[in-house]
Amino acid sequence: MVETLKLIVVEDYKEMSRKAASIVADEIRKNKKLVLGLATGGTPLGLYGELIRMHKEEKLDFSGVKTFNLDEYLGLDPDNEQSYHYFMFHNFFNYVNVDRRNVHIPDGKAKDPNAFCVEYERMIKEAGGIDLQILGIGSNGHIAFNEPGSKADSRTRVVDLSEQTIRDNARFFKDEKEVPRKAISMGIGTIMEAKKIVLLASGKNKADAIAKTVEGMPTEEVPASLLQRHRDVTVIVDKEAASKLTRRQ
Ligand code: F6R
Repeated sequence: MVETLKLIVVEDYKEMSRKAASIVADEIRKNKKLVLGLATGGTPLGLYGELIRMHKEEKLDFSGVKTFNLDEYLGLDPDNEQSYHYFMFHNFFNYVNVDRRNVHIPDGKAKDPNAFCVEYERMIKEAGGIDLQILGIGSNGHIAFNEPGSKADSRTRVVDLSEQTIRDNARFFKDEKEVPRKAISMGIGTIMEAKKIVLLASGKNKADAIAKTVEGMPTEEVPASLLQRHRDVTVIVDKEAASKLTRRQ
């Protein structure tokens, strides 16, 4: 068993969100020009809510922060309510003083998506690399849209969503048929270059993936388990997501 991940088990979703927000806020206070990698989905919503509160009540300043999102559905317009562009602006960016010129989200409508992926990698490099990357985890162990079997050295690219992910994400759509089958996603290699990583998970349906991530052998079949090879990863999970861990710290 490899023990490089720092594991924090908290009571519930709210505490997970607060803990994550306090890490993000500390990093921003240390470095006003922080390059922040961001995720979408149900997991980070509470984190964004708490960061918005900190901006309003504690003057947490995002004006110098650059952001890079992990992924976007291929084919969705930024105005589409199911797009990750829409998600990020409506759940976070519109409520803090982030400079829109500093916001980067993969372009799901890029004319040449493969060329866009190369350009996205270039933009991350140009920004000096990601200082702090926030991650959620799929019930199948995916990080960003790196599904099981993704290569450890993969870069930003067009990916196919797994059947499991399509089923999991159908809850955000009217019908499962509407869930896009492809996305642009940062690669595992891209994510592993972030200086610091915080992975969040809440709820019973993440318990298996968390047990494999934290206590399993690192394998491309469980992409999040590859994070064990990174030097600075903090995993913050609530009790339900921690419920299949054999050892609790
Ligand atoms: C989203 C992303 C995905 C999600 C994961 C969990 O940008 O990269 O890997 O983090 O699918 O999604 P939720 O939080 O909705 O359970």
